[in-house]
Amino acid sequence: MFSISDLLKSLPFHNKPRLFISPARINIIGEHVDYLGGLVLPATIDLHTQIAISPFPEKKWIFHSVQFHETVELKNFSYQNEHKWVNYILGVFVEFEKKGIEIPGLQIAISGTIPHGAGLSSSASLEVGIGFALSEILRLGLSRKEIALIAQKAENEFVGMKCGIMDQFVIANGQKNSALLLDTSTLNFEYKNINLGNCEFYLIDSKVKHELEASDYNVRRKECEEALIKIKEKFPDLVNLYSLSIDQNLDELNLSNKLKKRVKHVLGEKKRTEDAIYYLNSGRPDQLGKVLYESHASLSNLYEVSCQEIDFLVDLLHNEDVIGARMIGGGFGGCVLVLDKIGNFERISNRVWKDYYSQFNIQLEFYRFQIDDGVREIEVTEWIQT
Ligand code: GLA
Repeated sequence: MFSISDLLKSLPFHNKPRLFISPARINIIGEHVDYLGGLVLPATIDLHTQIAISPFPEKKWIFHSVQFHETVELKNFSYQNEHKWVNYILGVFVEFEKKGIEIPGLQIAISGTIPHGAGLSSSASLEVGIGFALSEILRLGLSRKEIALIAQKAENEFVGMKCGIMDQFVIANGQKNSALLLDTSTLNFEYKNINLGNCEFYLIDSKVKHELEASDYNVRRKECEEALIKIKEKFPDLVNLYSLSIDQNLDELNLSNKLKKRVKHVLGEKKRTEDAIYYLNSGRPDQLGKVLYESHASLSNLYEVSCQEIDFLVDLLHNEDVIGARMIGGGFGGCVLVLDKIGNFERISNRVWKDYYSQFNIQLEFYRFQIDDGVREIEVTEWIQT
């Protein structure tokens, strides 16, 4: 594990750096609906991207990743870089420039504890962290919502992943001990206290990452756009797919089988989100768990964004009578969010690790976490100029 002092020593900073930390996110319910105007219930957790940043006297940009042991020096940031991690930073720079904000020379070192490609949004965490850091060091006073929107645009346009707003928004606005209920059609939100009684959440990283994740994700988004066009033939005033009534008979909509499955997931998730909020409010984690399993089945069978390893894992958990589990994030690998009785973790993790290993020869990672605050600055106390 890398420490803040490793981060501060990783570049010969010309000036005292400032330090920002930007969290990872989970999502309790509302999956693959944030680009359709849906409700989502994510939260930020205590796995972080750490960013040390300092002005540099020349007009150039020096980036260092502690995790990848790579340094990249650029005099121009308009082009995609061969180092993928750099593009999340450049994308944000480009969005600031589009707003007429000049980016001065900078030294930026990055480290962190978020596993990459695990569906915990390490990319959005970096983008939001950079946007927030720039706003602070350039004294721009951007709102957290503006920073989230800039970070989303960086991902959509520079990186090319047509993600929704959920990840960037919660990373910018997350709050300790609360989930954030976000209406992605208006960006109105409220904090929801997470009281799970005698249960707890934890994460299992399947360690599976499918290369085509971004393109498969973009395909799903396109399919939903096609479905909306078709449905509008019957309901011309429909503003987005999520506004369709959950009682709508999908056979009346002239959709192909594939599009019907996609829409069925979206409407099912709408109903499950209502239910999940009700069960959270009324302190019924057992019922919430059922909703999580249903959401997973829908993501796997109707939206088709799971994979055999994740499905195997969720089935194992179900067979062990764990209260609830489902894939989270974009899918095609990554983490499973588990809702389990407090005290079960050791037994379940041992059991699941062994079965998964003998099936796939892959060693699972487990993450226990706390719900933590969104992006923020922390004080630098350990820096010694070299
Ligand atoms: C990824 C995207 C989000 C969201 C989720 C699925 O994490 O970045 O915008 O669409 O997938 O809910």
